Amino acid sequence: MLTLGIETSCDETAAAVVKNGNKILSSRISSSVHLHSKFGGIIPEIASRFHLEYIMPVTQAALKKAKVKLADINLIAVTYTPGLVGSLLVGLSFAKSLSFALNKPYIGINHIHAHMFSAFLEKQNFRFPFIGLVVSGGHTSLAYASDFNKIKIIGQTRDDAAGEAFDKVAKILGLGYPGGPRIDRLAQTIDKSPYKFSCARLEDTLDFSFSGIKTDVLYTVQKLKKKTKLINAQIAYAFQKEIIDLIAAKAIAACKRFHIKILSVGGGVACNRYLRQQLLEQGIEKKVKVLLSKPEFCIDNAAMIAALGHFLHKKGTRSKYSLTAVSTNR
Ligand code: KG4
Ligand code: ZN
Repeated sequence: MLTLGIETSCDETAAAVVKNGNKILSSRISSSVHLHSKFGGIIPEIASRFHLEYIMPVTQAALKKAKVKLADINLIAVTYTPGLVGSLLVGLSFAKSLSFALNKPYIGINHIHAHMFSAFLEKQNFRFPFIGLVVSGGHTSLAYASDFNKIKIIGQTRDDAAGEAFDKVAKILGLGYPGGPRIDRLAQTIDKSPYKFSCARLEDTLDFSFSGIKTDVLYTVQKLKKKTKLINAQIAYAFQKEIIDLIAAKAIAACKRFHIKILSVGGGVACNRYLRQQLLEQGIEKKVKVLLSKPEFCIDNAAMIAALGHFLHKKGTRSKYSLTAVSTNR
């Protein structure tokens, strides 16, 4: 069973061929991030035009790498929500056209759900129920997954996403876009900081709020008499520590609250080295098995879309051509 995955929800145009839901024959990604960096954030119109230009070559490259032809594909899986609506429409229209032309089924996939499963990619050890944590540029979500088609959101951000907070703080510090990897690298250069920032705890809930901490950092930076690389590193370190400690604590608390022993972690911010280390350490301490997605599957990719599509197809899910792109996850 060969599934072609297509992902165009944000600034990555991705295609992948996955066999039987777990063997990744190819995973190709073309990113338009370099076109957005001078603006300090994603420009939706530029992202969708890039998808339009790259969707064909990226898909052809994925098929070539997998050594398969379009006619060999049994199923097409494509992200239809959430994301930038213009970007989603490119992938969704492309997938529907392929499905129609090849007379093969297609399935629209929820991008967040796919991130929840990316830690299981290349393995066959799906074990339900588990708690999924997705931390990315657009989303911060905790979910209870009891099956491929039974994913219930139990906590999410009430304002900025975790990656968005990283990107905004990096901008305040003049580090450029995308900010997450740059803050990660800078924070690694020191092991303590005189600064302290705080996030709203939203005690008793599994929700997050990250907009306050960004303002806290902004006011601190505005008051600085001088700016040095060390001060930047100290601010990056203190910001990262606060935000990551909170995410790790809430994710482990979610496992405890629902008596779950498995935590699956995905999304771009899951590349963060301090987050990975914190989750693994706390997992050992609290007896939760923490499954971290490989960095290449943390970021947006089509292999996770194809894999979830395969298992949903096995459960009987099919999408109609009337399915449309939906920008929000509500
Ligand atoms: O999952 P992703 O590729 O796209 C979305 O679906 O949003 O995530 C991109 C986000 C960006 O905000 C980026 O700054 C952040 O992930 N990111 C990181 C790291 N690598 C990427 N944040 C913190 N530490 C990192 N190492
Ligand atoms: Zn994503």
